[in-house]
Amino acid sequence: MKTLILSSSLSPKSRSFILCQAVNAELSKNAIDIDFVDLRDYDLAPVYRGKTADMDRLTEKVKEADNIIFGMGVHCYTINDGLKIVLDSCFGDAIGKFFGIICAAGGEKSYLSTMHLTQICMNEWRMIQLPRVVYATGRDFKGDDISNTDLKERIDIFVKEFYSIGQKLIG
Ligand SMILES: Cc1cc2nc3c(=O)[nH]c(=O)nc-3n(C[C@H](O)[C@H](O)[C@H](O)COP(=O)(O)O)c2cc1C
Repeated sequence: MKTLILSSSLSPKSRSFILCQAVNAELSKNAIDIDFVDLRDYDLAPVYRGKTADMDRLTEKVKEADNIIFGMGVHCYTINDGLKIVLDSCFGDAIGKFFGIICAAGGEKSYLSTMHLTQICMNEWRMIQLPRVVYATGRDFKGDDISNTDLKERIDIFVKEFYSIGQKLIG
């Protein structure tokens, strides 16, 4: 199975990136092919400015993936800017793909923000979501490390379920 992990935050101190790294480390224990994208390394342009070469590359990665894990930060109770650009321009070939969401937020009350990503993926491309979201706030981290053991356990369960269901949905 080929999994695309899309860390979509453009923040130089991204916490969702740290979550994506933790998921990557755990998922890599299985014999699968993981493509890890850190969107900070990509040149992005809003929809009416036309696609950059990096965005063409990302469109191809989405097409090649069997399934996708999104890392997102919450901005104004919804998805972050980089992710919106990529969804608008690079997801045409994501139809029917299985996906999961891992999310970093400033506070505990914004957990429903991930539902916007769910709506977009389901309504636009009939994608199927793992019914478990990893949601973390600043309190779960110490510097660049995940300090909350409960969060680590939730990441492990997320990975186990994503791998198990992801495998079953392939061919
Ligand atoms: C423009 C902006 C808007 C934000 N809006 C929210 C919000 O509505 N709810 C929330 O809990 N945190 C909010 N935050 C805090 C971020 O979700 C938090 O910093 C999180 O770590 C971002 O993910 P990242 O570190 O991967 O970029 C906001 C941050 C920014 C910069």
